[in-house]
Amino acid sequence: MGKKVVRLGLFGLGTVGRGIVELLQRKNKEKGDYEFVLEKIAVKHLDKERPTSVASRLLTTNHREILENPEIDTVVEVIGGISPAKEIILEALKKGKNVVTANKALLARIGSQLFEEAIKNNCYLGVRASNVASYRLIESLAFSPFQIEKLLGVFNATSNYILTQMEKKGQSFSSVLEKAQEIGYAEEDPSNDIDGYDTAHKLVALLSLAMGYFLPLESVFVEGIRRISYQDILFARELGYRIKLLAIVKRRDNNLEARVHPALLPIGKEMAQLEGIENGLELRDEVGVEVGIKAPGAGKYPTATAILEDLICIAKGRKLILPQQRKHLNLKKMGEIESEYYLRFNVLDRVGVLAKISGILGNHNISIASVIQKGKAEKSLNSVPIIMLTYEAEEEAVQDALKEIDALSVAKGKSLLIRVEEGIL
Ligand code: HSE
Repeated sequence: MGKKVVRLGLFGLGTVGRGIVELLQRKNKEKGDYEFVLEKIAVKHLDKERPTSVASRLLTTNHREILENPEIDTVVEVIGGISPAKEIILEALKKGKNVVTANKALLARIGSQLFEEAIKNNCYLGVRASNVASYRLIESLAFSPFQIEKLLGVFNATSNYILTQMEKKGQSFSSVLEKAQEIGYAEEDPSNDIDGYDTAHKLVALLSLAMGYFLPLESVFVEGIRRISYQDILFARELGYRIKLLAIVKRRDNNLEARVHPALLPIGKEMAQLEGIENGLELRDEVGVEVGIKAPGAGKYPTATAILEDLICIAKGRKLILPQQRKHLNLKKMGEIESEYYLRFNVLDRVGVLAKISGILGNHNISIASVIQKGKAEKSLNSVPIIMLTYEAEEEAVQDALKEIDALSVAKGKSLLIRVEEGIL
């Protein structure tokens, strides 16, 4: 049998695009039974200086040169965002081209449409790079005979970097974010990462393959890490926890919880120990088997490697990883979930305040497991933080209680709630 040649059109030559060009060159040197030929690269600007050398004849600003070239059988999309990535991918699939993409934002929104189009046109749709943390597990999840019962993920490198730097350096969220932006670890507009949306996109994309369930993105509860202070990190540590931005999925029978928010994780748990840009995924299936993986969550080569793995599947004629149709799942409303909670109140340092707070919590059936209040307030600053850890309570009851507490005249500023998660491994 002759050598299989895969002819590629690449959309995007940013950090990941350059990583792909470099890895393809490296792979081709191995002279295996397949070869990748990069026919064209669509870029925004032809004359931009680029650290990776690319023959200028390969570059174009005209998408048509890739989409309408019948020689190109596979399109790699790493420009990100919704448009024009959506139009490019749909047109490529309609024209019978295979597509490999890292675009979790798009998959989270129209993943089922993209898969339908791929099946209709008998094309391969490679989405491993949409969640770099989990892609090495994705095949076994997609083909697992058993359903996931619980899944936890740290899927955002920027947020994990910020949280670990705050802890290491004893600095505030905003000063760590500013430094991370200076050195290019955080985007100029960091909202997608630090407000939890990127994690939610990755969660929805992963669940579609692992559970066969295209969860509507807007139904996922999303909360980011902006309100976490260095003080919270210290209090959490004192209580035996670290704070992580988590993607959480819990399934019992047909009922599903899917949410993204910061959570206190017991320090000894593996996910609590992820540092810097490390990401991780762990899960337990319905027969109690627990597995986990730790991997870099971002960067040129981790993402490009995931893309390359899909390209190799195409070269080897492997079948598309398809979401398996499972039965319908009912998504729990956020108010119905149950959790333990870390609560931080800023209140006047006065007689009876603690009693008032615990009274309100008690009225809402919320039982307190521990309390921290450090000494007296400085004279100049008469409010003090009070930290409470609750036993398991219903989210709606906790939210209602916090509203009542925040309305007290002794309350100075909005209280903070962080959910506690016991972890898996
Ligand atoms: N911006 C993402 C992160 C990396 O910080 O994890 C790309 O998915």
